Amino acid sequence: MRTQVAIVGAGPSGLLLGQILHNHGIDNVVLERQTADHVLSRIRAGVLEQGSVDVLDAAGVGARMRDEALVHDGTQICVRGVRHRVDFRALTGKTVTVYGQTEITRDLMAARAAAGMKTVYEAQDVRLHDFDRAKPLVRYRKDGREAEIECDFIAGCDGFHGVSRKSAPPGAVRTYERVYPFGWLGVMSDTPPVSEELIYTRHENGFALCSMRSRTRSRYYLQVSLAESLEEWPDERFWHELKLRLDAKAQADLVTGPSIEKSIAPLRSFVAEPMRFGRLFLAGDAAHIVPPTGAKGLNLAVSDVFYLSSGLVEFYRDKSSSGLNRYSDRALARVWKAERFSWWMTIMLHPFPDASGFDEKVLLAELDYVFNSHAASTALAENYVGLPY
Ligand code: APR
Ligand code: PHB
Repeated sequence: MRTQVAIVGAGPSGLLLGQILHNHGIDNVVLERQTADHVLSRIRAGVLEQGSVDVLDAAGVGARMRDEALVHDGTQICVRGVRHRVDFRALTGKTVTVYGQTEITRDLMAARAAAGMKTVYEAQDVRLHDFDRAKPLVRYRKDGREAEIECDFIAGCDGFHGVSRKSAPPGAVRTYERVYPFGWLGVMSDTPPVSEELIYTRHENGFALCSMRSRTRSRYYLQVSLAESLEEWPDERFWHELKLRLDAKAQADLVTGPSIEKSIAPLRSFVAEPMRFGRLFLAGDAAHIVPPTGAKGLNLAVSDVFYLSSGLVEFYRDKSSSGLNRYSDRALARVWKAERFSWWMTIMLHPFPDASGFDEKVLLAELDYVFNSHAASTALAENYVGLPY
């Protein structure tokens, strides 16, 4: 098989890249290790920056999002039982959009199928070759048979555990990492959200987040120790602990119900540099991970894809490599700002097991400053709604 761009991974990065390239007449094939149903069964975040909404709209996959998504003008942050509001619209003129990553993936899969673009699900043992030469090759196995794609470029959109980053020449990748000493226990339930806006809570027992997918589906998280397992968290214990960490109004408003999904995810900050190795480009979680506290993971995937697709379009349309040559630096400049914001939100809102009394006091002072200083709350708001591309 021959294509212009071979894309590894059918998460939001790979599918969005494929969609934008197709819109510009650039042929591409997506290779995905899992089935489509498996990809859609993963529950991920759900807050989109305006820039992400604009890119999805421009790619022609925004119709259902515009119909069904909830637009939020601000967010709530609760510290020691007192809720504060950060008004994004007043502080920045911008809003965020609540629409699940699963739904974006579903919309992208539908658009891809409708346009007749080729996707190989259950592609096993994907191997990347010759991306230091003019004609890279991607080999894989499908239904027990070996297959090969000859291409001009490979886009590694295969997430943190994918093969693409690992295929870079030894010594060519530098990684930066911080692992946090706790995880998030997440519960999805078909209950109305406790609040119109998200509530991020810092409580002495740990962080909690009240989020949502729609007016009838809620997503809640609790900071838990990494030693804990799901068996230790039956629904009743989850709701009891969540309630404990919320303010009095949220305690009164909380509607509980059976969980329809429950999982524990570790928190990690990670960046791999550079994001390009010859004709192999990394995008999304393949190159970087943020802790979920700033809701930046999906939004970074979208901005990477925006820069990468612009570079590829320029290459085929104008026969110029300048966008591709700038890709890694442009993407990383934005990635590091989101890394900084996600790290900052994480350290500010989670009690750390080894924190001293001094650490605790300084962070409470920082939160007090954020709530009471126009400059500081604007800084939080402009990062949360998304820095410019
Ligand atoms: N071969 C083919 N496909 C692979 C391989 C492989 N060796 N390894 C992984 N994949 C697939 C995974 O099965 C997955 O479907 O690559 C896809 C990567 O998708 P995501 O992990 O969703 O990553 P990305 O598309 O970059 O999206 C980033 O996901 O984790 C969240 O917070 C993150 O919201 C952000 C988004
Ligand atoms: C979510 O709804 O899953 C969510 C929202 C905001 C975050 C993280 C996760 O910061």
